Amino acid sequence: MSQYDVIIIGAGPGGYVSAIRCAQLGLKTAIVEGRETLGGTCLNVGCIPSKALLHATHMLHEAEHNFASMGLKGKTQSVDWDQMKSYRSDVVGQNTSGVEFLMKKNKIDWIKGWATIPAAGKVQVGDETHEAKNIVIASGSVPASLPGVEVDNDKGIVVDSTGAIDLPKVPKKMTVIGAGVIGLELGSVYARLGSEVTVVEYMDAVCPGMDADVQRSFKRILEKQGLKFIMGAAVQGVDTTKTKAKVKYQPKKGGDEEVLDADVVLVATGRKPFYEGLGLDKLGVTLTERGQIAVNGSWATNVPGIYAIGDVIEGPMLAHKAEDEGMAVADVLAGNHGHVNYGVIPGVVYTTPEVATVGATEAALKAEGRKVKVGKFMFLGNARAKAVHQAEGAFAKIIVDAETDRVLGAAIIGPAAGDMIHELCVAMEFGASAQDIALTCHAHPTYSEAVREAALACGDGPIHA
Ligand code: NAI
Repeated sequence: MSQYDVIIIGAGPGGYVSAIRCAQLGLKTAIVEGRETLGGTCLNVGCIPSKALLHATHMLHEAEHNFASMGLKGKTQSVDWDQMKSYRSDVVGQNTSGVEFLMKKNKIDWIKGWATIPAAGKVQVGDETHEAKNIVIASGSVPASLPGVEVDNDKGIVVDSTGAIDLPKVPKKMTVIGAGVIGLELGSVYARLGSEVTVVEYMDAVCPGMDADVQRSFKRILEKQGLKFIMGAAVQGVDTTKTKAKVKYQPKKGGDEEVLDADVVLVATGRKPFYEGLGLDKLGVTLTERGQIAVNGSWATNVPGIYAIGDVIEGPMLAHKAEDEGMAVADVLAGNHGHVNYGVIPGVVYTTPEVATVGATEAALKAEGRKVKVGKFMFLGNARAKAVHQAEGAFAKIIVDAETDRVLGAAIIGPAAGDMIHELCVAMEFGASAQDIALTCHAHPTYSEAVREAALACGDGPIHA
C-alpha cells in the first residue's frame, strides 16, 4: 500500500495543476485518472480540440471571404474533414503528453484507473488501496441530459460536445440546442464548414447572464456568418430515424409545437458535476441543492481530509477557475493561505470575433442600485481591427463606479478579446480606476488601444470616436 500526503482524483486542469503545486510545495503527491491520457475534458474533448477546429475553420472562412479582397487569388480551398480531425488530434496529443511530462518532472505518481473513496484517507483504484493524509476531488463535469433527448455519440446523430468534435462527416443541416458557449463555438465551426446551422435557445438572448450589449451584437455578427437563431423556444424532445432527426420545440410565447429537421443535433444545454463511483453517499459528503459538492472557503468538504475543486463545486464551470482553485487548495494543504478572487474570473467565447467578460455586468450593478459610469469604444475606430476585418459590431466596454472611477466590470467583443481582457483583470485585482488604464501608454497600432479608449470614454472622452 502506497502512502501519500495528497491524492488528487481527476487529471483535468483543476487536478493536474493542483498536483503540480502540491509537489512544488513539497507534498508527496499522486493523481488518479481513468482516461487513457491526462488533461481531462478540457484537453481531450473540450477546450483544446474545439480551439483547433475553430482555428482551422477560421482560416477557411478567411480564404473564402477575405483572401480575394486582400489580393490573394488562385486555388480555392476544399475541406478534408478527416485531415482536419487528425490535426485536431495531433494538437490534443501534444498537450496531453505535455501534462504527462509535467507529472514525471514533478515526481507525481499517476495511478491509472477510476477511484473510489472507501473512507477518508483511503483511495481505492482497482484492487489497490492507497493512503493519503488528504484527498482532493477534481473529477469535473459531464454534459447535462435533456428530457426527451437521447444522446448517442457513436451513432453521430444526436450528440453532445464530445460527439460534435468527432462527427464522421460534416452535416448538411445541424440543429444546436442551447445558445451558450458550447453551442455557439461548435455552431460556428460547422457553419464555417458549410453546414446549415440553426440554434434553438430557450431564453431571448444568447449566452444568458452576459452583458446585454454584447449579447445583441454577438447574435447579429453570428447571423451575418450564417447561423440562424430560434429564440424563446424550449426544446421538448428529439425523434430520430437511422440517419436523421426531428427536433420538437415549443415557442415560449405560446402556439403549436414546431419541428425542425436535421442531420445532426448538438445538445449544448449545460453540464453537471461528475462524481459517480466515488462513494460520496457512503462517506456522507454533503451536496448543495444543485448537486454540487459543498465546500467551505478552504475547499474542504464536511468530511475531514476530503477537499473538492473545479466543476464539481459551485461556480462557473471554467478550466481556469478550476486551475486557480487547484493551486489555492494546494497552498491550504501545505499549511499556507489559499485564495481565489471569484469576482475577477474572466469568461471567453472563442468565436471570431472573440467575446470576453470579467466582473459585474452593467445590468447587475444597476439592479443593485449602484451608480455606475460606462465607457464604450467601437472597434470601427481601431485601425488594427479594420485591417483584419473584425471591426464591425465589435467594441470594448468598461463599467466603473460613478464616484470613484474604480473598474467594476468589462466586456469586449472583438479580435483577441480573450487575451485583452486580462489587462482589465489585472486592473481589477489592483483596484485600478479607468483613469489608471487611460493614463497607461498603449502601443499603436494594437487592438488593446480599444481598451484604453473605453477607459478614456469613462472620463473626458475617447480620441478616435
Ligand atoms: P450553457 O449553460 O453555457 O448554455 C446552455 C444554454 O442552453 C442556455 O442558454 C440555456 O438557456 C439553453 N437551454 C437549456 N435547455 C434548453 C431547452 N430545452 N431548449 C432550448 N434551450 C435550452 O451551457 P453549455 O454551452 O452547454 O456549456 C457548458 C459549460 O461548459 C458552461 O459552464 C460553459 O461555461 C463551459 N464551457 C466553457 C467554454 C469556454 O470558456 N470557452 C467552452 C465550452 C464550455
